[in-house]
Amino acid sequence: MTVQASAPAKIILFGEHAVVYGQPAIAVPVAGLRATVRIDFGDQPGIQIITDEPEGIVPLDLHAQSQDALALAVQLVLGKLRLAVPNLVVRIESQIPVASGLGSGAAVSAALIRALSAALGHDLDDATVNELVYEVEKLHHGTPSGVDNTVIVYQQPVFFARGRPIQTLTIRQPFLLLIGDTGKTALTRMAVADVRSLYEADPVRIGVLFQSIGEIVVRARQVIESGQIELLGSLMNRNHVCLQELTVSSDDLDVLVSAALASGALGAKLSGGGRGGNMIALVTQETKEMVRQSLLQAGAARVFETIVG
Ligand code: PMV
Repeated sequence: MTVQASAPAKIILFGEHAVVYGQPAIAVPVAGLRATVRIDFGDQPGIQIITDEPEGIVPLDLHAQSQDALALAVQLVLGKLRLAVPNLVVRIESQIPVASGLGSGAAVSAALIRALSAALGHDLDDATVNELVYEVEKLHHGTPSGVDNTVIVYQQPVFFARGRPIQTLTIRQPFLLLIGDTGKTALTRMAVADVRSLYEADPVRIGVLFQSIGEIVVRARQVIESGQIELLGSLMNRNHVCLQELTVSSDDLDVLVSAALASGALGAKLSGGGRGGNMIALVTQETKEMVRQSLLQAGAARVFETIVG
């Protein structure tokens, strides 16, 4: 019998980077883009991994002190359940672009941890899955704030602040976003490390910037919860300017943000670690096609659409 689990991509609406320093952030799942893991019991000893990549079936090396996220996720589940390595075939499929700020790593980990624990007869609760995905996130990010794993595991809009209980958000009036992919991958850990250096060199100026981002996030929460979506765009624009000052935007991201605004988006900003990856644009049913065309003309590798709420 095949056991299956899936997890969504995510976007950070507000607050990336400052969230690492204790400010809040707002993130939402992207239900239409998912990572899926299917598990069957196998005849070969150990765990065989099948991905879309050309290698086909690869045995998972669970002995090395590896930097492999899949191996770590499996080790964490087996450790938690105090079980020996079972004989399994694990198929991983993901529609989520990698290293692009959409949480692909956390989604694969969440789906794998859920499917594996279910296959072994011990469904883990959300809090435990979240804790384990966070451990795996450390491989990708170094010092993750925890926002990615939280929104992906709980699959709900979240208002997240490090070390505080998870708060879900009520979306009073659903709104439409386009996600524009620069097609350039970027390592979040590098952007996070550069922001750290900036902060250490000038803690007062950068601290004020983090605080301004935090204020934008708090205001955005009020706007989202009261359904005043027309006010959200300018908050996104302000957040993008702060991220430019933190040096985590890029020419590609800025070109897409400008193209979205020039073609009718109500607001636009980079989303996630930056330096590449994705940006988001707030659109309406009336403007979305214009903005989509304009993003593609400006060089977007692809454009996804998602409704928040
Ligand atoms: O690139 P992403 O989407 O994984 O973004 C990470 C968000 C940061 O705030 C930059 C880092 C973090 O750990 O929160």
